[in-house]
Amino acid sequence: MEIGATLDHLHLSSPDPERVARFYADTYAMPARRVGDEWICVAAGRRVAVSEGPAHCLKYAAFAFPDGASREVYAERVDASALAAQPASALLDRDGLTVRDPDGNVVVFTVRAPDAPAARGLPPAQSQHFALRTPDAARMLRFYHETLGFTISDRVLDEEGILRACFLRTDALHHSLALFMAPEPCFDHQSFETTGWDALREWADHMGELRVPIVWGIGRHGPGNDTFFMVHDPDGNLAEISSDIEVCAPARPVGLWPHEQRTLNLWGGAIMRS
Ligand SMILES: [Fe+2]
Repeated sequence: MEIGATLDHLHLSSPDPERVARFYADTYAMPARRVGDEWICVAAGRRVAVSEGPAHCLKYAAFAFPDGASREVYAERVDASALAAQPASALLDRDGLTVRDPDGNVVVFTVRAPDAPAARGLPPAQSQHFALRTPDAARMLRFYHETLGFTISDRVLDEEGILRACFLRTDALHHSLALFMAPEPCFDHQSFETTGWDALREWADHMGELRVPIVWGIGRHGPGNDTFFMVHDPDGNLAEISSDIEVCAPARPVGLWPHEQRTLNLWGGAIMRS
């Protein structure tokens, strides 16, 4: 049974937070404003915060429960040894449940805030999943699965049986978190899930009008079966538009994929993190 939370937003750190915020404002149609020492980009269904710090790092990732009661129930199952101090942000409520993973990434479990009004123009797109690179995918998988209760959807093993990637879900959608083995731990990408193939094409046309090149895709991931494309933000973080991600049936068996390009893109080449 999934924990019942969904990805709410990421807080990116950047040497140039204003530039990054303006990028998400333009390319992902999320109007940006400055609040204290952070930049907040908000549109219906999607939110990003950015503040000063090293590139390719998250200040935190925030998941949201539908209400305070469900977060309370969840808090009782999380081991106190994983708890950490809550970071400050205009996008967080004061009672967030905050943990730190084995690589030092901070994850906050909050309660869903009222959404921004829908805007005309581009199709809807929801903050839906993010991915981390890690030198020890097996240890990170144990933490997210055993300590935080995330459900494993798919694993990617190499020929020696070493875990190279895995995909975990917190609701019925195939993954809200992906982990990729890589030499150094860092933030990999965030994804905005749109409403279908036609909507994905509209988003791709929008990137084309802005002369923001697609750096990976259009393709179809094996795990998750979603169609996607990715662009780079000014710091070189990947940012994805995805559509038609798998909706997992209850008790879906854990999938197993070989470590090869085709797993990450059934239609062609892939960005291999290791
Ligand atoms: Fe993704």
